[in-house]
Amino acid sequence: MKRFVVLSGAGVSAESGIRTFRDSDGLWENYNVRDVADIEGWYRNRKLMLDFYNERRRQLEKALPNKAHETIAALERYFEVTVVTQNVDNLHERAGSTNVIHLHGELTKIRPEDKADKGIRDIGYKDVNLGDTDERGVQFRPHIVWFGEAVPMIEPAAKAVSQADILLIIGTSLNVYPAAGLFRYARYGTPIFLIDPQKIDLDYPNFRQIRKPATKGMEELMEILVEQYI
Ligand code: APR
Repeated sequence: MKRFVVLSGAGVSAESGIRTFRDSDGLWENYNVRDVADIEGWYRNRKLMLDFYNERRRQLEKALPNKAHETIAALERYFEVTVVTQNVDNLHERAGSTNVIHLHGELTKIRPEDKADKGIRDIGYKDVNLGDTDERGVQFRPHIVWFGEAVPMIEPAAKAVSQADILLIIGTSLNVYPAAGLFRYARYGTPIFLIDPQKIDLDYPNFRQIRKPATKGMEELMEILVEQYI
């Protein structure tokens, strides 16, 4: 089976009612990134950060995967699919995708604040507050990668892209590194499709943009895939 790698961002969850970061009504409009998505913000004000992610976790419980998540999951019938997502929501998994790499962590998970990759546990959509600690008495924090922190999953993600036969970039402004540079690991000439309503220029040879929202864009992409690859 051909290897199909999806690089997704907030735009793929927009039609599920989850706000993106940099669109006009984006998440960052009401918050200062440095206060709620930066490791320094955690040491400055743990409560603000915990409340911010508690609110997003509550929203996620009410959100549903949309047709784009479902079509991406259905690709597994025809390809060996790896979804590399910058999103911390669980909508790809809830739509049925079985191989998802979360570059920026997962909203439903927490870990003790003194560990990078130990003691990770799934709390579903529950809140986590100051005073919620592990058995050693260490405060729990969201299992999210904040600005200023390493991106531990970048290696497996880059490996997956380097082995891809087809690459899809969907719903990301390609603003944040190292995620934004991942497509460059693709072998020269690998077909890259990009689904986004806003024009995005990739200086890359075999590249085609579908300027539509994720759900409609995935419909159009499926027609192309059936014609050319399935
Ligand atoms: N369908 C497809 N794409 C959409 C839709 C939609 N319905 N609505 C918006 N978009 C596109 C926007 O045009 C934009 O290019 O989704 C992209 C969203 O970009 P950002 O808001 O920057 O989100 P993202 O690229 O995922 O941000 C990357 O930045 O803040 C950090 O850690 C955070 O993971 C996030 C990272």
